[in-house]
Amino acid sequence: MRLSGKHIVLGLTGSIAAYKAAYLLRGLIKEGAEVQVVMTPAAKEFITPVTMSALSGKPVASEFFSANDGTWYSHVDMGQWADLLLIAPATAATMGKMAHGICDNLLITTYLSAKCQVMVAPAMDLDMFRHPANVANMEILRSFGNIIIEPGEGELASGLHGKGRMEEPETIVEEVVSFFNQKKKLLNKHFLITAGPTYEKIDPVRFIGNYSSGKMGYAIANKLAGEGAKVTIVSGPVQIKNVHPQITVIPVESAGEMLEKCLSVFPEVDGAVMCAAVADFTPENYSPTKVKREKDELIIRLKPTSDIAGTLGQLKTEKQLLVGFALETNNELENAGRKLKKKNLDFIVLNSMNDRGAGFGGDTNKITMIDQNNNQAFFELKSKTEVASDIVDKMVLILEQKEGRRE
Ligand code: CTP
Repeated sequence: MRLSGKHIVLGLTGSIAAYKAAYLLRGLIKEGAEVQVVMTPAAKEFITPVTMSALSGKPVASEFFSANDGTWYSHVDMGQWADLLLIAPATAATMGKMAHGICDNLLITTYLSAKCQVMVAPAMDLDMFRHPANVANMEILRSFGNIIIEPGEGELASGLHGKGRMEEPETIVEEVVSFFNQKKKLLNKHFLITAGPTYEKIDPVRFIGNYSSGKMGYAIANKLAGEGAKVTIVSGPVQIKNVHPQITVIPVESAGEMLEKCLSVFPEVDGAVMCAAVADFTPENYSPTKVKREKDELIIRLKPTSDIAGTLGQLKTEKQLLVGFALETNNELENAGRKLKKKNLDFIVLNSMNDRGAGFGGDTNKITMIDQNNNQAFFELKSKTEVASDIVDKMVLILEQKEGRRE
């Protein structure tokens, strides 16, 4: 019984997959968990509270008051009692309410009072799942530190085929078990991440920039925070608004500002990941007034910026980890290897512009990691979140080596 002594609040919402929650509940109970079921009013249209209460051995909470005896179900007490709040199935509506704090039922009030880890197993039709509103809400939930158990692909209740069906109960039980057994690998560690582009000003309204979205750097920051680390992102201008509570964002614009902030944070950290697409050149002269269209030609002289990764590489202590990126169009491995040495990095993550789905802007990336022993690890095209996991795994390994825990 791998969940003995664990208190789980199992939230059910109005989805056809609610029937699977009965199997899920049985699985949790079999593993020894004590489970309190909370159902939204819509969930009761799909499965009866009697089934869930018989399986859990406790009355199901649904309304704020019991109609029979006026018992008040305190969402605060439930939130405090729980070691885990698991919402399965979670509809698009419930995830939207969770993301925006709309407390119109007992489950959402419980969610907002919960101090424990929250896991969400979405269930919906494929078009709903991939709608930008739902994608954005899931992103917000992840940024709150909630774990999303991605739905599987397959036949949906609508008859359509695609991603949206709730993960199978046995798999969810395994996720729950591994959550309770996992040890956070980076507790008490602090990391610096640079992310996004830099803007080098020409005049008050123009700048030289690049297409970096910052997604890769923020995804790494989220993973590090998920492993218990504190993270500081020195970030160029990006559209990403929501971050994990353990992440602090220091916004900057130019390469010069980015260097200055990095220099002040670096001495405090255990490691740094240089994801930013830093401009290599900046205008030699800034025009305090708007440059006018007076001549047929405009020549802007540029001067080099400082190499932030290279500067930190010089300052790095034996214990500190430094990771860089290389975006290359040709002689990729050779160029990346050279940058690794020149900047004194522990390892470098290579993106090739020749690989489809890699590089700026998108949600996927294809990388090769090269370390100081010239080990080259090639990875498939993956989502930036999965790529971030691979990078964080490598960071954990090297930090352990540095601390002498492994050979
Ligand atoms: N980098 C940095 N500061 C700079 C330029 C780059 O910190 N001024 C970092 C990037 O964040 C990345 C690594 O250095 O981690 C390599 O960046 P890249 O642009 O590929 O290499 P450069 O050194 O700029 O070389 P080149 O542009 O000639 O390929």
